[in-house]
Amino acid sequence: MKFFIDTANIEEIKKATRMGLVDGVTTNPTLVSRENRPFLDVIRDICEVVDGPVSVEAVSMTADELIPEARKLSKIHPNVVVKIPMTLDGMVAVRQLEQEGIKTNVTLVFSPNQALLAMKAGASYISPFVGRLDDAAHEGMDMVADCLEIIENYGFTSEIIVASIRHPLHVLTAARMGAHIATIPYKVMVQLSKHPLTDVGIERFLSDWEKVPKT
Ligand code: G3P
Repeated sequence: MKFFIDTANIEEIKKATRMGLVDGVTTNPTLVSRENRPFLDVIRDICEVVDGPVSVEAVSMTADELIPEARKLSKIHPNVVVKIPMTLDGMVAVRQLEQEGIKTNVTLVFSPNQALLAMKAGASYISPFVGRLDDAAHEGMDMVADCLEIIENYGFTSEIIVASIRHPLHVLTAARMGAHIATIPYKVMVQLSKHPLTDVGIERFLSDWEKVPKT
């Protein structure tokens, strides 16, 4: 299972990279806006640190505008993957860009049928937003299971990036389902390492170690 980090913050990316938890990065306009730095500086810094795909979002709405925008974004660095919104224009752009060798990540996917269209368009990556579906009282992870079943049925080559992850249970469920990738906020990566019995165990071992004669 590949872990991407869902952030545009270079310090978080560096810390997670040291822990061996970064196979790639996903950004979006909201995450970039939190950095208060010029867009190109943010993306270039990330690409320097990360040896893997870095998703960068295109913001045009028509295919005729999305395609040149994506071409421009892809020139920032060979690792850039262009995020394209799940619209019909977006699918036109995905088909053209993938034919040109520009990798795409179809974003804002909220149903298995949307994912199916992205698979047929030839998207390299597809991002179902599980947390936002949970927020709307739907089982977000059910959509991931459906997407994986469709890929298995027909041998589509798209990889599923479980996105909008809010807590460790999303990651566990994604792993049990065999999702290709989870894009995880730094805070949730830290949560994955925690267990109260680990803390209690360390405390007990350290206090017992104090009782051991050292000579
Ligand atoms: O990768 C998509 C993700 O950034 C969306 O997350 O928490 O804004 O729903 P969220």
